[in-house]
Amino acid sequence: MTRDTPAHDLVPAPVRVAGPYRSGFPLDRGTTLSAAPGTETTERWLRAVLGAAYGLPLRDAADEDATNSIRLRIDPGLAPEAYRLHVLSDHVVEIVGGSPAGVFWGAQTLRQLLGPDAFRRAPVRAGSQTLLVARTIEDEPRFPWRGLMLDVARHFMPKDDVLRQLDLMAAHKLNVLHLHLTDDQGWRIEIKRHPRLTEVGAWRARTKWGHRASPLWNETPHGGFYTHDDIREIVAYAADRHISVVPEIDVPGHSQAAIAAYPELGNTDVVDTTALSVWDTWGVNPNVLAPTEAVLRFYEGVFEEVLDLFPAETSPFVHIGGDECPKDQWKASATAQARIAELGVGDEDGLQSWFVRHFDRWLADRGRRLIGWDEILEGGLAEGAAVSSWRGYAGGVTAAEAGHDVVMCPEQQVYLDHRQAAGEDEPMPIGYVRTLADVYRFEPVPPGLAPEAAAHILGTQANVWTEVMENRARVDYQTYPRLAAFAEVAWSRLPAPEERDLADFERRMTTHYERLDALGVDYRPPGGPHPWQRRPGVRGRPLEGAPPNV
Ligand code: ACM
Repeated sequence: MTRDTPAHDLVPAPVRVAGPYRSGFPLDRGTTLSAAPGTETTERWLRAVLGAAYGLPLRDAADEDATNSIRLRIDPGLAPEAYRLHVLSDHVVEIVGGSPAGVFWGAQTLRQLLGPDAFRRAPVRAGSQTLLVARTIEDEPRFPWRGLMLDVARHFMPKDDVLRQLDLMAAHKLNVLHLHLTDDQGWRIEIKRHPRLTEVGAWRARTKWGHRASPLWNETPHGGFYTHDDIREIVAYAADRHISVVPEIDVPGHSQAAIAAYPELGNTDVVDTTALSVWDTWGVNPNVLAPTEAVLRFYEGVFEEVLDLFPAETSPFVHIGGDECPKDQWKASATAQARIAELGVGDEDGLQSWFVRHFDRWLADRGRRLIGWDEILEGGLAEGAAVSSWRGYAGGVTAAEAGHDVVMCPEQQVYLDHRQAAGEDEPMPIGYVRTLADVYRFEPVPPGLAPEAAAHILGTQANVWTEVMENRARVDYQTYPRLAAFAEVAWSRLPAPEERDLADFERRMTTHYERLDALGVDYRPPGGPHPWQRRPGVRGRPLEGAPPNV
């Protein structure tokens, strides 16, 4: 029997720990579960996860005062996602949350206290349960939006891998999955009224291998999409883990896959859109949507199905992209120019803004909130819209000062496609060097922001763009361990970056790597990539100055 890990090995770090005290006890076959109303998601999760890891039945408690029991309950006096975890000397673990989510985060902490074997799917050693040491942990998150964006468009991520990432997010107390579902290189969500979006738009013949300047191609055709039921399953699986899913349908740029499927969506008076196929390389693409009523109606149809699949309770926000929309085709298009004159919006930026405002109103009328990349600020932002600040802090600061909610995800800090060390060994190295320590020192609220504006920072998000991540192992490598540091930034009330205790975090990470090993995560080892994690000879584009623009 081992003793549980010191509470300071928790990742993310909790607010307060009292103890450890002398006494302790193991979970055993007689340990029961007592789940008060509202705690059913955690009850199910504990049975499925801890029950499997230790081969324990975790039967219902005879009554709520039973000893040798894990007791779950809600105390509305706590903040919604806050929890208190008491490991008491009389074989009782009590998890009290301010809401069902709070109870769930408390259960995640219990799993970490039990040790790395709690992260396996079946018992590996008879009697391997850890002695839980009596203590009290009080905890609550700094931000309500603790997000991870997965780009499932550049490389499709099979549904099982998405579900696995949701489990990994839950283990790190992250609570927003932003799914980047459409882009030039692929359309990944079934839309029943427009079947060619996936019949044509979900597949490409070949793929650029490495940075776009690389001469190499992967000639294996690539593609995939989520059916309506796949999406419902992802959304429900996330909801069971108190994770909300933000679907992103990118307009009016990043649309070549949609235009390849339905050429009439493009600027047909300036390009032969019937000749377009799903894009097979990377960068900013000139083929953008035409600013016509027909295109608006088409996308309203898309969003109707999206709203049906992502219910308002768990998906209050809908992301419409809005980034990187080159204006060359609109400048050359008589149709677009006539539209600018007819709408009286002045120029192409005004047209982009009109496009975004249309969907802002359309979503608001249906009880949802629009969120978009910070380019949606150009030309004026509709009331109620929120911004994902990716080109640094500036867009987020402008938006917050104007009273808009903001998710901070600056590419300079939390784009996890960027390489995590200097040197030749990083696979397909792109972007800035952003080490585990750099991510640990990321501060989502820019210094000097006035308190009223800072209150609009909903939180922060790490973005995983997958141009150079062709499979699950590559996604794991880029995402972990940095997502553990990011999770602590998002959850824990860390001091200012220069005062953060990196040594303590790294010490806790030695335990956390054992958890990631038990979970089968192909993280980047602290000493550098394993030989099979390298991609020798595949060109990247390491930059110190300019953004990478894969
Ligand atoms: C983005 O990275 N284009 C949002």
